[in-house]
Amino acid sequence: MPPRKLVAGNWKMNGLAASAEMLETFRRAHPAPACDVLVCPPATLIAGLAGRGTALGGQDCHPEASGAHTGDISAEMLRDAGAEAVILGHSERRTDHGETDALVAAKAAAAARAGLTAIVCVGETESQRDAGRAMEVVGGQLAGSLPPEADPAGLVIAYEPVWAIGTGRTPSLAEIGEMHDFLRARLIERFGAEPGAAIRLLYGGSVKPGNAAEIFAVGNVGGGLIGGASLKAEDFGAIVAAAG
Ligand code: 13P
Repeated sequence: MPPRKLVAGNWKMNGLAASAEMLETFRRAHPAPACDVLVCPPATLIAGLAGRGTALGGQDCHPEASGAHTGDISAEMLRDAGAEAVILGHSERRTDHGETDALVAAKAAAAARAGLTAIVCVGETESQRDAGRAMEVVGGQLAGSLPPEADPAGLVIAYEPVWAIGTGRTPSLAEIGEMHDFLRARLIERFGAEPGAAIRLLYGGSVKPGNAAEIFAVGNVGGGLIGGASLKAEDFGAIVAAAG
């Protein structure tokens, strides 16, 4: 049997205490989803949403466990608040905060140290794709964003083409398949056949109820990383149902 798919919601900088209601609505409608579900709210909400039956993740962490880093949050803190995973190297962090592959790799090592699954994001810009460089760019990000000692069991890779995030545009199913096959081959090269084949690959970028099922049916797509649509209980529920 293929592994269960994973649908992860990335709330980005959205959500207040009242968002617990949205999660409740989702849970009531989908009490026993046929896929794994993860919700990554802002860090301020993790402790308050923990222990209610939905796995939670952070959206970033600092490489160190503690110290003089005003405003930062460590992987250990996320774990302590109730998180099981953390998104790392999202394109918005790479762009807004100048995060490099090396920094993302250090954060992934921190996630492993704290016992969190690292969801490492990669993805090309539109101009890179237009120049025929999508695979070269994504392959480079993948190689550089994983720490040398990476344990494949604690790893998820999310392919999110930058130009598809929040735009309503997606690559063709063939392009999604091509990139996921490429990532799978790279992971097998790096970690060996079985561990490399078991790492879940998520597609992210304008996944909606209307396109989720066809995207999740593409070979090597192990689920999705959902932005805007994860903020609405009904849409997120429909996407989760499409992954079952
Ligand atoms: P959208 O689903 O809003 O395009 O965002 C995707 C994303 O960035 C998830 O991390």
